[in-house]
Amino acid sequence: MQPTPYTPIWLMRQAGRYLKEYRMLRRKYSFLEMCKNAEIAAQATLQPIEKFRLDAAIIFSDILIPLEPMGVAFDFSKGEGPVFRHPVREMKDIEKLRVIHPEEEFPFLMKAIRIVRKELEGKIPLIGFSGAPFTLASYMIEGGHSKNFILTKGMMYQNRQAWDALMEKIAEVVVRYLNAQIRAGVQAVQLFDSWAGCLSPTDYEEYVLPYSKKVISGVNKRVSLVHFATSNATLLRLMKRAGGDVIGVDWRVDIGEAWRCLEYDVAIQGNLDPVALFGSVKLIKKEVKRILDRVGGRPGHIFNLGHGILPNTPVENVAALVDIVHEFSAR
Ligand code: CP3
Repeated sequence: MQPTPYTPIWLMRQAGRYLKEYRMLRRKYSFLEMCKNAEIAAQATLQPIEKFRLDAAIIFSDILIPLEPMGVAFDFSKGEGPVFRHPVREMKDIEKLRVIHPEEEFPFLMKAIRIVRKELEGKIPLIGFSGAPFTLASYMIEGGHSKNFILTKGMMYQNRQAWDALMEKIAEVVVRYLNAQIRAGVQAVQLFDSWAGCLSPTDYEEYVLPYSKKVISGVNKRVSLVHFATSNATLLRLMKRAGGDVIGVDWRVDIGEAWRCLEYDVAIQGNLDPVALFGSVKLIKKEVKRILDRVGGRPGHIFNLGHGILPNTPVENVAALVDIVHEFSAR
């Protein structure tokens, strides 16, 4: 871990609906149309970079993009989250899943990465990403977002053979998907295991860790990998065992304690509550100061939110946050 002149900051979901420029694009294109059009995806990636002094860009896409060519189609049309018409519930569904070739299936993503790299002119790095096997499996099995993950855990507990076959297939796709993004030019990758925090440490270790580990060990070591989950306070050591150069945490942990638990030989990313951005600049300053104090100037902290930025976040507070982090952490 190298010392930096100030703590770098980027924000999960930094391209999105809180930006009026993004909402303008969304009037013309559906979300999936935006993802599948290289020029538009590149434009959306760069919108927050043009507006704020962020230290990294993240390619505009979604963790669900690989699922459609695998054979699990979905759409965002019915209200809030994604809806899958044919969820994956049994061995016969899993046998039908295709292990895809990302360069052939996602030319738009590879092209978007090349456009953004060119536009950024090496000034800041570009991050690629994928969902982790557990989080992707949960969408496939539940057929959308879930609160209690009853069907996902149902397969895990009651149909071990199907669970292993599904996680195996997803892990192989995720390795290929991340390596294709690296070949196209991303300079770091983040593995989003957004919903792994619903698992007990024992279940995580038994049913999930081997597959996340398989993914992380299969990803090209040329770039750094951020391994992120929400509600992961009790999973930190296990997530570190699965791998990653950086462990991402949400706001439910004390970042100082979390890093101590990780024994400081991996970097750490997070941990501002996205809701803090709805408060005053005074509150944001207090929260930034608290996080930086807990980290204590140790090299290897990447400032971020604890989860994605929320749709109605005031834009001026995002600008303030980025500048406050740079100012307060300057060494
Ligand atoms: O961070 C970035 O700026 C890159 C883009 C990005 C998106 N999704 C764009 C998006 C990234 C990194 C993601 C990851 C993602 N997608 C995750 C993991 C991170 C997390 O939040 O835990 C998950 C679980 C998804 C799945 C997903 N995509 C859901 C549940 C939804 C609907 C809920 C919502 O926020 O609307 C999406 C849609 C989505 N992905 C939008 C964006 C900008 C909103 C689409 C719109 O414009 O209507």
